Amino acid sequence: MLTSNARSGPRWTVFLALLCALCCLLAPAVAVKHENFKKCDQSGFCKRNRQFADTAASSSSWASPYNLDPASITFKDGTLSGVVLKSLMGSEEKIRLPLTVTFLESGVARVTLDEERRQKGDITLRHDSTARKERYNGAGAWALVGGLDVAKGAALSEKAEEGFTKVFYGEGGKHQAIIRHAPFEIDFQRDGETHVKFNQKGLLNIDHWRQKVEKPQEEVKEGEEEKKEGEKKEEPKGEDESTWWEENFGGNTDTKPRGPESVAMDITFPGYEHVFGIPEHATRLSLKTTRGGDGNYNEPYRLYNSDVFEYELDSPMTLYGSIPFMQAHRKGSTVGVFWLNAAETWVDVTKHKSIPNPLSLGILGHTDTQTHWISESGILDVFVFLGPTPQDLTRQYGELTGYTAMPQSFAIAYHQCRWNYVSDEDVKDVDRRFDKFNIPYDVIWLDIEYTDEKKYFTWDPLTFVNPTTMQQQLDQTDRKLVAIIDPHIKNTDNYHVIDELKKKDLAVKNKEGGQYDGWCWPGSSMWVDCFNPAAITWWKELFKYDSFKGTAPNTFIWNDMNEPSVFNGPETTMPKDNLHYGNWEHRDVHNLYGLTFHNATHQALLERKKGEIRRPFALTRAFYSGSQRIGAMWTGDNLAEWSHLEASIPMVLNQGISGFPFAGADVGGFFGNPGKELLTRWYQAGIYYPFFRGHAHIDTRRREPYLAGSPYTEIITQALRLRYQLLPAWYTAFHEAATTGAPIVRPNFYVHPNDERGFAVDDQLYIGSYGLLAKPVTKEGQDSVDIYIADDQPYFDYFDYTVYKGAGHHTVAAPLEKIPLLMQGGHIIPRRDRPRRSSGLMKYDPFTLVVVLDKDGNAQGTLYLDDGETFEYQNGAYIYRRFSFDGKRNSLTSTNLGERATVKTDKYLKAMDKVRVEKIIVVNAPKAWKTKKEVVVMEEGKKESARKKTAELEFFEGEKGKADWAVVRNPKVGIGRGWRIDFD
Ligand code: GLC
Repeated sequence: MLTSNARSGPRWTVFLALLCALCCLLAPAVAVKHENFKKCDQSGFCKRNRQFADTAASSSSWASPYNLDPASITFKDGTLSGVVLKSLMGSEEKIRLPLTVTFLESGVARVTLDEERRQKGDITLRHDSTARKERYNGAGAWALVGGLDVAKGAALSEKAEEGFTKVFYGEGGKHQAIIRHAPFEIDFQRDGETHVKFNQKGLLNIDHWRQKVEKPQEEVKEGEEEKKEGEKKEEPKGEDESTWWEENFGGNTDTKPRGPESVAMDITFPGYEHVFGIPEHATRLSLKTTRGGDGNYNEPYRLYNSDVFEYELDSPMTLYGSIPFMQAHRKGSTVGVFWLNAAETWVDVTKHKSIPNPLSLGILGHTDTQTHWISESGILDVFVFLGPTPQDLTRQYGELTGYTAMPQSFAIAYHQCRWNYVSDEDVKDVDRRFDKFNIPYDVIWLDIEYTDEKKYFTWDPLTFVNPTTMQQQLDQTDRKLVAIIDPHIKNTDNYHVIDELKKKDLAVKNKEGGQYDGWCWPGSSMWVDCFNPAAITWWKELFKYDSFKGTAPNTFIWNDMNEPSVFNGPETTMPKDNLHYGNWEHRDVHNLYGLTFHNATHQALLERKKGEIRRPFALTRAFYSGSQRIGAMWTGDNLAEWSHLEASIPMVLNQGISGFPFAGADVGGFFGNPGKELLTRWYQAGIYYPFFRGHAHIDTRRREPYLAGSPYTEIITQALRLRYQLLPAWYTAFHEAATTGAPIVRPNFYVHPNDERGFAVDDQLYIGSYGLLAKPVTKEGQDSVDIYIADDQPYFDYFDYTVYKGAGHHTVAAPLEKIPLLMQGGHIIPRRDRPRRSSGLMKYDPFTLVVVLDKDGNAQGTLYLDDGETFEYQNGAYIYRRFSFDGKRNSLTSTNLGERATVKTDKYLKAMDKVRVEKIIVVNAPKAWKTKKEVVVMEEGKKESARKKTAELEFFEGEKGKADWAVVRNPKVGIGRGWRIDFD
């Protein structure tokens, strides 16, 4: 049996084991092994760039050595081109860096800075002539899918100003890029005000190509050591060259055939106090600063996809995935940058407060957030977003990198996982027990032990004897199976997958060009290189039903360990000098590797069988910008501790505003055994994760919800039922994410961008556009929560309609059986109230509409619905309705939001024709309805005689502190039809 210790791989010596044991005695039970991961000053390029920043900050006469050559500037078709010249200390030579600033139709600007390839005579300016001679420029090919149309309206300013070039762009020319030549800087303005500044602090730094100069070792004669040391101290400090050509960490040597190649720059957001984004870190939504001081971090946020064992909270340490997209927010404005670079990246965040001038009355001090981005290699490629709303940012970022893939409907229901369900009989038993206890679930998962000795695409012949009948049983209740497939392929005999991988030469290479062999779950393994199109073609073959025998159309896939995790590699990943397709170093593409593997799996699921067109589902642990187009992510190996439950909320929120909202954390916590209260609270929080899965480590006790016992099992079941009841709202929220880039669960600032008090609030969330405001309980023994309300709308308790009014904190009772959930006035929430075993069985269930009237008596809401399975929605097979309650006319209407009806639309509508609204609940109903007994219902598309009918209305007076409500029973209107219900 594998235990967590197996993660450390064989390289760990007895000494370390003893050390660890000692640590365990002194420290809490679990702790991340800091010594396994680099700090900035152990990462040569990070250290050098931080030193560069310190030098710049400590000198009043600091001038950035980068100037834009004015004679080189041209402007054509929305793109400004030129050459930035880097001056070298003590040399006349200048390094030529081609610049482009492209102004996009969307109002976004893109700045790239590359390095001209140089040759001196026949000598290439590289240490190793076999290394690639250009900087990696391929991240865009993986991350970008659109939004690149160049702005036709972008124009150079007619007013020439010495030393500057100005370009107007964006809608109505309200954006302006002011490009300063010497030193090279860019100010991005909106409506005449600067919102984003490049290189204001002069930290632009591109390690140019150079030739390795072998310095002769100075001979030190006996007795002269002391003197030499003394002399050395007096020497002026030059650049720190110690890590230019080679770097050591944890016993691994990283050779650098191309020498130093880092790209770095400062980006300032003047007047912005909050910055969000750049996941994945276990930290707050509003990012803390990173250069020390009370309560702040000392390390930059690191983006270097890593398998961090027992990760710590409240930390800028890197985690499994990277999205280098940052948003700055202040009242009335959101702006941001997307630093498109797939190499190891560090981001320092500092804040600069200007003191208010007491003499200039009324002028308040303000805060600038200054950021310093540092990547190890590649070109500089940055997108600038000028907002002004958070919605503009997520939309524009989504236009570039793609929106969330519309999942199958099962994928947003509940997933039951553990490492491991041990046999097909075990799976069938768990399945039966869920039914016995009337607990809904949609998907059961198989972790690595289902395989024959960790050989993916095989089944353990002793324990998974009959996967087909197992899946048939699941299918009876429309349930699915997810099986894990990792990127490491066991290097062993008699295994067709490794044989083919080797024969076809599709594995990642080591620095010598041989197939790289490392250590992961199966022991000796090789890694498929999905940068290679031929590897994708091959990978697809492996998933065909007649190849991966025992899988069925209801089998889906989980991609794990794709950072990639290599137990005996530096920082538990691949050596940076490994080589990928196209002869690029792993260094250049590290953060993309996970996406490429996930993408190959996604492609494979699309092509398992000719003619079978189902939306794939593939979960990934590692990710990069663009992964949202492919599937879901989860936050990896958390701990069964309250603090991890608490941390999961800001982490999931951050994923949402960073373009990858299909996110969740392991419910219950991966490592350790949660107590029953924690497990219950975790389910009550987990129902708000867009990706909702219970999971547990192999060494933990079983914890399926039915095992908790009374009253926990019942309470968890209620939580699950709430998720299932609201699935129509969740599905609509996913549709919104898939079409506009909006997060599925949203932080306060996103919903109330002008409410300064709420900008840092990250422990509560809104579901989609429904005004459903949830605040999970994340503390032991807690029996109430303080919910923060940002606006002056009334909010109502979801269950008993208690009214909460007024901006500020409100205490909401939350005994164990209660899930704090409010409904903001002004929304119409679609539900399905009939309890079923799986979401698939709810497909033709009737709807309940909850109409929550706002302070003026109005409400709005949408519903999106399709077959939840195929791609037919792309051909029009969907229902998309707007429900509106007009307080003046006292009527509720359903209108069509669908764009155009096609044959497929008609077909789908026909299939859904019998699906009706069975109940309408009006919360905050007008007192005048007290004496009403019925409403008048009119439905379109019916025979004259059937068009107009009445339905029963019942009014309920709320007790003290609770809202009045009314119920319309069985109005019998079709969910896909137009209709009107008059309450007057
Ligand atoms: C990794 C995953 C975890 C999984 C385990 C075994 O630790 O993060 O979810 O259970 O590997 O596959």
